Amino acid sequence: MKTPHPVSHLPIADVLRRAKLIVACGSGGVGKTTTSAALALQAAMAGRRVLVLTIDPAQRLLQALGLKSTDDGAPPHMPNTPLEVLPRLASQLPQPLPPGASLHAMMLDASVAAEQMVERLLGDAGNRQRVVQNRVYRAFLPTLAASPEYFALELIYTLREKGQFDLMVLDTPPMHNAIDLLHASNTLSSFINDRVLKWFSKIPLPGEKRGFSFLGAGNSMAMSVLGRLFGQDALPDIAQFFGAFQDVLPKLRDRTQATDRMLRAPDTRFLIVTAPGETCLREARHLHAELTEQAMPFAGFVVNRVLVAAQPPPDMAQVPAVVAALQAAGLSPDRAADAANEVLESAQDLQRLADADAHHVLALQALAGSDRVCAVLVQRDGDIHTIAELASLGAEIAGAGHLDAKRPDMVG
Ligand SMILES: Nc1ncnc2c1ncn2[C@@H]1O[C@H](COP(=O)(O)OP(=O)(O)OP(=O)(O)O)[C@@H](O)[C@H]1O
Ligand SMILES: [Mg+2]
Repeated sequence: MKTPHPVSHLPIADVLRRAKLIVACGSGGVGKTTTSAALALQAAMAGRRVLVLTIDPAQRLLQALGLKSTDDGAPPHMPNTPLEVLPRLASQLPQPLPPGASLHAMMLDASVAAEQMVERLLGDAGNRQRVVQNRVYRAFLPTLAASPEYFALELIYTLREKGQFDLMVLDTPPMHNAIDLLHASNTLSSFINDRVLKWFSKIPLPGEKRGFSFLGAGNSMAMSVLGRLFGQDALPDIAQFFGAFQDVLPKLRDRTQATDRMLRAPDTRFLIVTAPGETCLREARHLHAELTEQAMPFAGFVVNRVLVAAQPPPDMAQVPAVVAALQAAGLSPDRAADAANEVLESAQDLQRLADADAHHVLALQALAGSDRVCAVLVQRDGDIHTIAELASLGAEIAGAGHLDAKRPDMVG
């Protein structure tokens, strides 16, 4: 079977030109971080102001973007802060960036992000000052920070409000977390809605009368539980925390609903990054089903690490000719025959693997449908470490498909 060169109907270049948020998800190790960086770089080279944000605990993106170097004396990278990648590394690119284009990268630190968000929502500086030192607040923070997916969205939402970037590319951790991402806003939002908010609203503010004395609290179940948890001497802290958070929680709930709307917006696109192979394929199908069920804006698949065999395919009938050539080059007849057989057998193995990969790609193309992306990235010889390699990968992705398709639902 001949290895096909798949052509997607929706070119990824179109997505890169129009989307405002691209979420790259997929199972572990398939190349999400590398693909996210390559996509972001490609969009920057096409003239956009781009941010790539990673929740990848392995921090590979920083290495790929040359941001995490131990020997160039660069300052340590700050989490949750966009760091300019280009033009610093622009000399490695095949062509200069168009005027106005830029590429930034950002690492997520969820606990810092949780803190920053709450402090922002607290508004009034005096209130903020009191709350950040509050013991109950400090105990509450890790619960919030346990949802890094949510804080990635929250950061993206905040940056969107500032309008600094045309496109943000979110690199997610492996698949189960990508599914968490879909639920992150909802979970947090319903948690705040149904449980915390109601519970908090029952607690009177200091000085407020609701049938029992607040700091006397013998008859308040909630207060006695909290008193046991934090100690009786923490009750003033608890009162202050609730007082300050009466205002914050409804705002927090509004934000979670807004981030959820952002995920479903017409200019958001989910790309499933996958690799050929039964397990990856099964996980990609599962993720696709999940995105479809959640009515998320699915853009298509990027099939990474695809093996491509040499053309024309190897043919054992060529053995005598190869043996003759090797003998002419000075090998003994036995060694020439062994060498020719080995070379052709391994070429045939590669061909079989490439055919299997091509099969998988065709299956994903069929699943994606004609109005979605199915871009193929070939397996490179070594890891991808440099901006130049990312640029070449980005060009390969952008080259998949033709450029005349238009999605009416994509905001231009
Ligand atoms: N097409 C490719 N050819 C060769 N190497 C590749 C290719 N794509 C990715 N890699 C390499 O594979 C490794 C894993 O890639 P990457 O970190 O992007 O995967 P990931 O899906 O983000 O992984 P994780 O799920 O652990 O976050 C990296 O070392 C990267 O350089
Ligand atoms: Mg990764």
